[in-house]
Amino acid sequence: MKAITTTGWGPNTKLILSEMDAPAKPGPDDVLVDVHAASVNPKDWKLNFHLAMAATPVGTQRLPPIFGDDLAGVVIAKGANVRHFEIGDAVYGMDMRLRTASLAEQARISQHRVAKKPKNLSFNEAASLPLAALTALQGLRKGGAQAGKSVLIIGASGGVGTLAVQIAKQMKMHVTGVCSTRNLDFVRALGADALIDYTKGDYRKTAGEFDIVFDVTSYETPLTCKALLGRKGHFISTGGQGMSMLATPLYRVLGKKADTVVVESYRQDLDTLADMVEQGTLKPIIDSVFPLEDSEAAYERNRSGRCRGKVVIEVLAD
Ligand SMILES: NC(=O)c1ccc[n+]([C@@H]2O[C@H](COP(=O)([O-])OP(=O)(O)OC[C@H]3O[C@@H](n4cnc5c(N)ncnc54)[C@H](OP(=O)(O)O)[C@@H]3O)[C@@H](O)[C@H]2O)c1
Repeated sequence: MKAITTTGWGPNTKLILSEMDAPAKPGPDDVLVDVHAASVNPKDWKLNFHLAMAATPVGTQRLPPIFGDDLAGVVIAKGANVRHFEIGDAVYGMDMRLRTASLAEQARISQHRVAKKPKNLSFNEAASLPLAALTALQGLRKGGAQAGKSVLIIGASGGVGTLAVQIAKQMKMHVTGVCSTRNLDFVRALGADALIDYTKGDYRKTAGEFDIVFDVTSYETPLTCKALLGRKGHFISTGGQGMSMLATPLYRVLGKKADTVVVESYRQDLDTLADMVEQGTLKPIIDSVFPLEDSEAAYERNRSGRCRGKVVIEVLAD
């Protein structure tokens, strides 16, 4: 099968199209999926390019690894314990712990980490959701999201942020989105009640107190957001980089409300997201679509840090 592999390890690694063996037949709890689409997450290039060896669980993955966590596709084989899916079902999901290896024509994934694809989405749209939407949902929940509460979403225009804005609105929260000037109208159209342009001065000192500060950029720490949190605010970080990785747990040790969301894939949460999509309260936001053979360009686009929503890799044209 065609799959994307790397030319090596480290920051100068390139992604190349290779011919590889198809995955072995599914284990008892797995499904084998004909991948129609995958999507790009910053984690892929951060971990895989910079900490590649440490991030690769030897024994579960060939070296060099096939990239990609998110997928949408069609079940072509299933293990003996799989009751929830039939051959021919359209599914979407991701498995970050075992790594889905979705930049390939076929992928094997646990039945617990996929769900039926929302009926009203194309494969490209469905593949854009799992990791980012699960992060948005689980991050908001971790912050104690509920109707009537206020949330500040820092990074509202990106892969996770565009979905967090919509999910918070679906939860009937008051949403303030932080983005740059060029994205103000875009984030407003997603449903944000209020907007802050981060290019116009240091909003962190003046914007008032929020029940939840959800820093999706992971540039911030509970200390840089102190004025935004007040005494009772809950700081949630996606924790992907910089001081937030250290500062958030330290802040919690001091008895403050601060957490890092570490995304997990559960079928139940994927079903919840699919319900929102089918009810029209959540829609995927796609920045750009690249064919499988142009995966390097897709990652380059994501590394720019300027994406509006998600970068999708089309493996099989819809
Ligand atoms: N812990 C977890 O489980 C988990 C899960 C998912 C993601 N993450 C991490 O979360 C982070 C975000 O992921 P993502 O997929 O949303 O990234 P992304 O799509 O690459 O984010 C790009 C967006 O960030 C905006 N942005 C950049 N600087 C900003 C700033 N200072 N303030 C506000 N917005 C800013 C950009 O808008 P402009 O172009 O207008 O600046 C762009 O729209 C990454 O570090 C990722 O590794 C962690």
